Amino acid sequence: MATFDVIHTASAVSNALHVLAAVVWVGGMFFAYLILRPAVGGIEPAPERLKLWSRVFPRFFAWVWAAVVVLPLTGYWRLFLDFGGFARAGGYVHLMHVLGLVMIGLFVFLYVFPYRRFQVAVAASDFPTAAPQLAVIRRIVGTNLALGLFVAAVAAFGRLWV
Ligand code: HEM
Repeated sequence: MATFDVIHTASAVSNALHVLAAVVWVGGMFFAYLILRPAVGGIEPAPERLKLWSRVFPRFFAWVWAAVVVLPLTGYWRLFLDFGGFARAGGYVHLMHVLGLVMIGLFVFLYVFPYRRFQVAVAASDFPTAAPQLAVIRRIVGTNLALGLFVAAVAAFGRLWV
């Protein structure tokens, strides 16, 4: 296989992984925020609802960790190897890059602070401490969901528009 074919194939794989990571992360937040959250509203807040979220989050966040590693790796691959760096990339890629880093920063913050506190509190059956942490997690996920939908739309729109 010629060198060009190898690089071309690697770029196509990279692009596919990038989009799949975005779908898993943003789609997961969409489901959690807009489907699961209202659906569990009828369950008694403490302890049942808090315990349910404490079982949902570790499963979802494992996938989000995969996405927050894959997105920049594949994004920078395309940015530097296909576009030739920031100077040659369209404004929509710059916007995606900045907002992508903001989303990743928000997720890492969420994981290290409110999520850890939430899990420790639920494990200790300290539900009055857990409830406000869940509210912080909800706000951050809501923000990241809005950013993620916007970034995905900007990526798809900008690609054809620029
Ligand atoms: C460090 C962060 C990121 C970088 C450096 C980056 C970079 C890139 C680059 C260079 C492309 C190719 C654009 C093109 O083919 O015209 C791309 C495509 C794309 N990105 Fe990102 N990205 C990042 C984060 C994100 C995030 C957080 C999302 C969504 C939540 C996202 C969603 C997409 C989508 C959906 C495409 C495909 C657009 C298409 O093929 O039509 N990216 N990204």
